[in-house]
Amino acid sequence: MEIDAEEVKDSSLILIKQGAEARVFESNFVGRRSIVKERFSKKYRHPTLDSKLTLKRLNAEARCMTKARRLGVSTPVLYAVDPLLHSLTFEYVEGPSVKDVFLEFGLHGIVEERLDDIAMQIGDSIGKLHDGGLIHGDLTTSNMLLRMGTNQLVLIDFGLSFTSTLPEDKAVDLYVLERALLSMHSSCGNVVKLCSPGTESPQSSGHLR
Ligand SMILES: Nc1ncnc2c1ncn2[C@@H]1O[C@H](COP(=O)(O)OP(=O)(O)O)[C@@H](O)[C@H]1O
Ligand SMILES: [Mg+2]
Repeated sequence: MEIDAEEVKDSSLILIKQGAEARVFESNFVGRRSIVKERFSKKYRHPTLDSKLTLKRLNAEARCMTKARRLGVSTPVLYAVDPLLHSLTFEYVEGPSVKDVFLEFGLHGIVEERLDDIAMQIGDSIGKLHDGGLIHGDLTTSNMLLRMGTNQLVLIDFGLSFTSTLPEDKAVDLYVLERALLSMHSSCGNVVKLCSPGTESPQSSGHLR
């Protein structure tokens, strides 16, 4: 059988991030630019336990991402779940991360209108997640992308997500975000406040609830 060189090139994996739990690749899924997130085994765990845990987390990530979409939060489209390779394949979202945009604001000055728009979208998305009983678990600005063209906020990385309606779990989610914003993006001012207009603390009602 002849193999088309273009096809081989298309299905190749380009490593974009090597994390503690997973490797993230850019690839191609039936002609579409895609992201493959592959959870790898932990050698220090018993192989059977390791395989069970890895699969459990893989399924949890896919389920939470799907639940977020159902709640009206924009996420990448999930293309495939492979329980044997322990991988998820999803749509490649073209556009910068909120981290890139905020760091740019720090370097070259804030574009107030854009900052307000992003902050409102962050607050709105988290409000929808929390109202629906979903905790993101890793709300940092690198896990938020801005779709090129529309500037729509897309939440990614549901690897630490879980369902809960406990106010304490929601508060921890918000605390992680607040720490991320204060430590990385202090030059952007009080973004947390912009995310929750009319409220002094994230606990009170408003966009962040
Ligand atoms: N759907 C996507 N579209 C574009 N880039 C993505 C997408 N998913 C992940 N990435 C890129 O890969 C990086 C790592 O992915 P992520 O799911 O956050 O894994 P990790 O759990 O290792 O942080 C992201 O910060 C982002 O730069
Ligand atoms: Mg991430």
